[in-house]
Amino acid sequence: MGSRLIGYGSYLPEKIMTNQDFEKIMDTTDEWIVQRTGMHNRHFAADNETVVDLAAAAAARALENAGLTIDDIDMVVCATTSSELDFPSVGVQVLGRLGASRSQPAFDVRGACTGYIYALHCARAFFAAGMHHRIMLIGAEKMTRFLDFNDRSTAVLFGDGAGALIFEHSSSGYSGIIDTVVMADGREFDMLHGTPDHKISMNGPETYKKAVTLMPEAASYIMEHAGITADNVDWIIPHQANLRIIQSGAQRLGFPLEKIVVTVDRHANTSGASGVLALSYALDNGIIKKGQLILYPAFGSGLTWGAALIRI
Ligand code: UT7
Repeated sequence: MGSRLIGYGSYLPEKIMTNQDFEKIMDTTDEWIVQRTGMHNRHFAADNETVVDLAAAAAARALENAGLTIDDIDMVVCATTSSELDFPSVGVQVLGRLGASRSQPAFDVRGACTGYIYALHCARAFFAAGMHHRIMLIGAEKMTRFLDFNDRSTAVLFGDGAGALIFEHSSSGYSGIIDTVVMADGREFDMLHGTPDHKISMNGPETYKKAVTLMPEAASYIMEHAGITADNVDWIIPHQANLRIIQSGAQRLGFPLEKIVVTVDRHANTSGASGVLALSYALDNGIIKKGQLILYPAFGSGLTWGAALIRI
């Protein structure tokens, strides 16, 4: 049993923070940020805007896109690591915001930047088990909650935003979420983690080295598992952490750069929202078209990493 994508939507906060804005508040330059990361802009949520606000806005747009209401959804899985409240889950709060009245289940997945791949993995399993007909997958992050403007090595890297995808059960195994693989290595905790005072601790160069090997590894594994090669894939949407990581991964996999969806220049790293936002962006802009096969590798704190294959 498989699935098909029947709706998508995204939400980006109004405020755009440019590299030039950072030049005014810390010892950095547009040149350094562009050269090292490929980032130009990122969106920053307003102080009173919460992760739930972002998630609910993206979810509402996905429902509108699908021509559905929240009560047509059987389960909500939300990838997020930046909720202001420890409980309840952002997923449940989204149900409340959108006026759900069916008592359908909702929960969050805390997979950091790999969160949306973990969420896809869960959705695939529920479809395979035949347990839910329609699943809404949300990726939502307010990464600015964790930014320390005294730490230039991390402050410039992240942005806020949310994306939502709605999948429906299908008898075809060749559409929607076709395959997923997720992995974790807790021994590498020190490389990248949140701190008790809600900041980001990251060894950038070490994280970079892991990212350029583990994302292509996950991508190769899933292609091999599906019996396909890079030629069969129409688009690759890698986790949007750094343009150099994206380009290096594509080179390792033998993907031409024209097949890669890049949003890191405009959204920066939105962690668990990154791939969902990037897919919504690519669909909105007619970059990805119906029937195309997408390879979705991701990598993040944990360490966690993985990949998904999705046919639109
Ligand atoms: O999504 C989760 C996964 N996260 C990632 O994948 C991030 C992976 N890491 C990276 O993307 C890169 O390591 C960074 C973009 C974070 C850093 O780039 P880098 O080329 O690895 O730079 P670096 O950390 O080795 O720092 C080089 C220099 C240092 O100065 P010195 O010691 O050589 O004098 C830093 O202090 O760049 C300096 N630097 C900055 N300079 C201007 C660090 N941040 C900045 C900055 N502006 N914002």
